[in-house]
Amino acid sequence: MLSSTSMLSATLSRLNLLPKPSLHFALSSLKTHPKPINQLFSRPKSPSITSKFLSSSKSQSQTTASNHDLVVLGIETSCDDTAAAVVRGNGEILSQVVSSQADLLARYGGVAPKMAEEAHIKAIDQVVQEALDRANLTAKNLSAVAVTIGPGLSLCLRVGVQKAHKLAGSFNLPIVGVHHMEAHTLVARLTERELQFPFMALLISGGHNLLILARDLGQYIQLGTSIDDAIGEAYDKTAKWLGLDLRRSGGPAIEELAREGDAASVKFSTPMQHHKDCNFSYAGLKTQVRLAIQSRNINAETPISSANSQDRVARADIAASFQRVAVLHLEERCERAIEWARRIEPSIEHLVVSGGVASNKYVRARLDTVVKKKNIQLVCPPPSLCTDNGVMVAWAGIEHFRVGRFDPPPPAELPVDFMYDVRPRWPLGEEYAEGKSEARSLRTARVHPSLTSIIQASLQQK
Ligand code: KG4
Ligand code: ZN
Repeated sequence: MLSSTSMLSATLSRLNLLPKPSLHFALSSLKTHPKPINQLFSRPKSPSITSKFLSSSKSQSQTTASNHDLVVLGIETSCDDTAAAVVRGNGEILSQVVSSQADLLARYGGVAPKMAEEAHIKAIDQVVQEALDRANLTAKNLSAVAVTIGPGLSLCLRVGVQKAHKLAGSFNLPIVGVHHMEAHTLVARLTERELQFPFMALLISGGHNLLILARDLGQYIQLGTSIDDAIGEAYDKTAKWLGLDLRRSGGPAIEELAREGDAASVKFSTPMQHHKDCNFSYAGLKTQVRLAIQSRNINAETPISSANSQDRVARADIAASFQRVAVLHLEERCERAIEWARRIEPSIEHLVVSGGVASNKYVRARLDTVVKKKNIQLVCPPPSLCTDNGVMVAWAGIEHFRVGRFDPPPPAELPVDFMYDVRPRWPLGEEYAEGKSEARSLRTARVHPSLTSIIQASLQQK
């Protein structure tokens, strides 16, 4: 199912009112620059196709393409949505397309990597083509292709990365490899153009719970992370066990049902009360919810639409009580993280909240109260840019491209057994040393050094 978001239609209708930009002129001027594009930025000799985030010695102000001329296609396939978008360097969204695997999710109650991969393979060509068509462009007009290379499911990441290489190879386009969580963070700088580094970000999605201090582009300190499950996973499982309609994913279904319930009726305990740090844990809350559901004889096989009124009230009470505690955990951690962040960067003025769960109105309202108490401002991208989307990837690509971090165009033909650079486990930043706690994640296996350490190493090489 191909669906554009409400943001898209708003963007498109706005675009229709504007005079058509002279894209061909703008972009051809970029492409016919006397020097080939990969020499416009100072780069290491013999750049390798797999070496992501090459650092240039040029500053942002020295980049050659003006913001209007720069047009980037973003491709996102890290989890269950196949998404693509075309964004201009000035932040104008030319198109946004998302093909959701909601039907698969509803049928299987979670993401099965092999099936998700197949769904991406089926959708990817059409999604990318549609993004180009809606932007009134062809791939020839692009300045670069940005693609999520991690973290995520490797089978799924590979589909997007392969498509990006195919397109970039055929049209001689540079590639920007994007960190999915950095893209969730940076998209706030597209919607809030005044947002400058340093700022804090709480990234809450199905697979991640991260509290970070964003010091600069590509430079992040991790203040906290989940030691087990992410909050979105807890929403999804609660929704499944309560027999809710999962076609829009579990989060929105719980948010809606919670409005009918009494949030004080079930006494769930708040996670990690004894750990005075900024880490998260949702596995214990999930267990509490499961036990509460069992003890009230709620049968997930009976969909909520067929539940009698007493049964519906019981389910709504659990949804509301779960949501209150799940979000209270976020509130407590954010409050502490603001204090920590101020020790490192006293000038902090903003907390960005992004990732799928950030589209929840209750989450936004509660976190707004926290930040107001601390005299800082909340920045939440619109819901269609909080859940996985291609715009955030294109925008992260634009931010890195502008400072010269990209790979040269790959060859038009790659061998069948070419090893694409995908990074399923890829930390965003280094852990805040003073914030290290005993509550450690068991999932410590790292495939790649963090994005921040790669960028710092490349800056030191200069
Ligand atoms: O960022 P995202 O689209 O994909 C990942 O990177 O995981 O986040 C998806 C998660 C799912 O767990 C979904 O249930 C949750 O975001 N979500 C919500 C809401 N909308 C999406 N959770 C709570 N309330 C919502 N309104
Ligand atoms: Zn995400």
